[in-house]
Amino acid sequence: MPKIGPIELPDFPLLLAPMEDVSDPPFRRLCKMHGADLMYSEFISSEGLIRDAIKSRMKLDIFDYERPVGIQIFGGDEEAMAMSAKIVEAVEPDLLDINFGCPVKKVVCKGAGAGVLKDVDLMVRLTKAVVKSTHLPVTVKTRLGWDESSINIDEVAERLQDVGIQALTIHGRTRAQMYKGHSDWTHIARVKNNPRIHIPIFGNGDIDSPEKALEYKNKFGLDGIMIGRAAIGYPWIFNEIKHFFQTGQHLPVPTLVDRVEAARNHLLWSMEWKGERLGIVEMRRHYTNYFKGIPNFKEYKNRLVTTDDREALLGVFEEIIESFSGVVF
Ligand SMILES: Cc1cc2nc3c(=O)[nH]c(=O)nc-3n(C[C@H](O)[C@H](O)[C@H](O)COP(=O)(O)O)c2cc1C
Repeated sequence: MPKIGPIELPDFPLLLAPMEDVSDPPFRRLCKMHGADLMYSEFISSEGLIRDAIKSRMKLDIFDYERPVGIQIFGGDEEAMAMSAKIVEAVEPDLLDINFGCPVKKVVCKGAGAGVLKDVDLMVRLTKAVVKSTHLPVTVKTRLGWDESSINIDEVAERLQDVGIQALTIHGRTRAQMYKGHSDWTHIARVKNNPRIHIPIFGNGDIDSPEKALEYKNKFGLDGIMIGRAAIGYPWIFNEIKHFFQTGQHLPVPTLVDRVEAARNHLLWSMEWKGERLGIVEMRRHYTNYFKGIPNFKEYKNRLVTTDDREALLGVFEEIIESFSGVVF
C-alpha cells in the first residue's frame, strides 16, 4: 500500500486531480463522498499567496472531512516558493504538491508550471527550496517533458526523488500536446520500473471509465491513478472504478434524482463557501456535465444557467425531478 510520508493510502488509491476553478472545497466534498482517496486543491500561485491575494488565500481552505488532502502551488522563483510553502504549512494540509505541469501560457511564461520542463536544474532548485522550508511531505505533479523530442521524465523523477519528494504524479502528455492527442502511460510505467525509484508513482491522463482504469492498472503496474476531467459533473466515477476492481461488475448508473441531488448539493455548498451570488454564477458551468446525456433537457439547462435567485433555482431542481421521474436514460 502506497505511503506518502506518514499518509497511508489504500491499495491502488484513486486521486482527484487538482483542477483550476473546479477542485474547490464544494467539489472535493462530493468527490470524497463518492470514493476519492486523496484530493488536491486547484493550483495556487506562490506569488499570489505572498501578496496575500484574496483569491489565492481562499484556495487554502481545507476541511477535516477531506483528509488526506494536498495543497498545490506553482511558481518559478525559489524564494517565493519557499515562502509560500510556509504559508501553506500553516493551514496544515496533509501534503504540499508542486505543479510542474501546467501548460497554459500565462504560467509557462513565468518559468512556472510546465515551463520548468525545459530547465530541470531550475525544477530541482525550486523543489529543494520547498522541501527545505516545510515539514509537510512534498509531492510533484508534472508531464512527460516539453515536447515529443525532449521527454525527460526519467531524469526528472530521479532528481526530484533525490531532493526529497515523496510521490510523483505523471500526466502522460508533453507540454506541447496541451490536452490533445492521448496520454502515453508507457513512459510513466518506465519511471515506475526504474530500480532507482522507490517513491509512489501515480499515473494520470484520460481515465474515464472503470474498464480503462482496470486495463491501465493491470498493464502499467503503477501505485494509483489520478482522475481529472472524468470526475467533473460525475463524482461517482471513483466508487464505480473501485466496485469494478473488486467485483468486475458495474455499479448501477446514477439516477436522475442522484444527479439532481449532487448538483444541488454542489450548488448549496458553493453558495455557503463562496457566497450566494458567486456560488450561483460559478455553478453554471457544471450543469452540462451533471446532466449530460439526458434527452430534452435543454429548457431546464437554460433555466439553471439563467436563474439568479436561490429559491427559484432550487424550484427548478424540483421541477426537473417531477418532469423526469420514471424516465430511463
Ligand atoms: C479545467 C482544468 C483545470 C486544471 N487545473 C490544473 C491545476 O490547477 N493543477 C494541475 O496540476 N493540473 C491541472 N489540470 C490538469 C489535470 O490535473 C490533469 O492532469 C489533466 O486534466 C489530465 O487528467 P484527466 O485526463 O484525468 O483529466 C487541469 C485540467 C483541467 C481540465
